[in-house]
Amino acid sequence: MQALVVYESIYGNTRTVAEAVARGLAERLVVTLVEVGGAPTTVADDVGLLVVGGPTHAHGMSTPDTRSSAAKKAHGAPVSQRIGLREWLAGLGAPPPTAGFAAFDTRIKGPQRLWGSAARAADAELRRRGWPAAAPPESFLVHGPFGPVHDIVVAGEAERARRWGLDVAASAVAHAGPGGPAH
Ligand SMILES: Cc1cc2nc3c(=O)[nH]c(=O)nc-3n(C[C@H](O)[C@H](O)[C@H](O)COP(=O)(O)O)c2cc1C
Repeated sequence: MQALVVYESIYGNTRTVAEAVARGLAERLVVTLVEVGGAPTTVADDVGLLVVGGPTHAHGMSTPDTRSSAAKKAHGAPVSQRIGLREWLAGLGAPPPTAGFAAFDTRIKGPQRLWGSAARAADAELRRRGWPAAAPPESFLVHGPFGPVHDIVVAGEAERARRWGLDVAASAVAHAGPGGPAH
């Protein structure tokens, strides 16, 4: 089974997490990892699993305004410069017949009710567009608040992301076949 991982990142943490997720997925699947600005808006028919990830901004997926505010604090060029996950999802076509998806984000360490989750927002948007979920949304934590110096992946989170990728791959493989992925 092929997996496509699409990530957005400003300071680089979500890219680090996406790379770890891709390593976990690659233990069971053939994986392509792409930054959202270069991701295809039509997912190929041989892709059985789409995994999307982005940074939590203002409790959900980033917007042009939050990205511009984040970019002003960045030390170098932001990783994602063209679009964010929100804009990519808005242009995304229908799912291939047997594809499922899973969403992750990075967010500030602390209660989700306080900090929100881009993954939950992406999960809701993909479901609304008719994509079946292969796994519930997941968050990986950064220290905060809101800046390249502070927003660094918490120790152990990259390894947890690798294990999450492996679990998602195993679940997608288990549910694949004539019935497709779990809904
Ligand atoms: C403008 C802005 C708004 C943010 N809003 C939130 C938020 O509402 N909740 C949260 O958990 N983190 C928030 N953060 C922290 C980001 O989640 C954090 O910068 C991100 O996970 C780092 O990922 P990146 O290095 O891939 O850009 C915000 C960061 C910025 C720059």
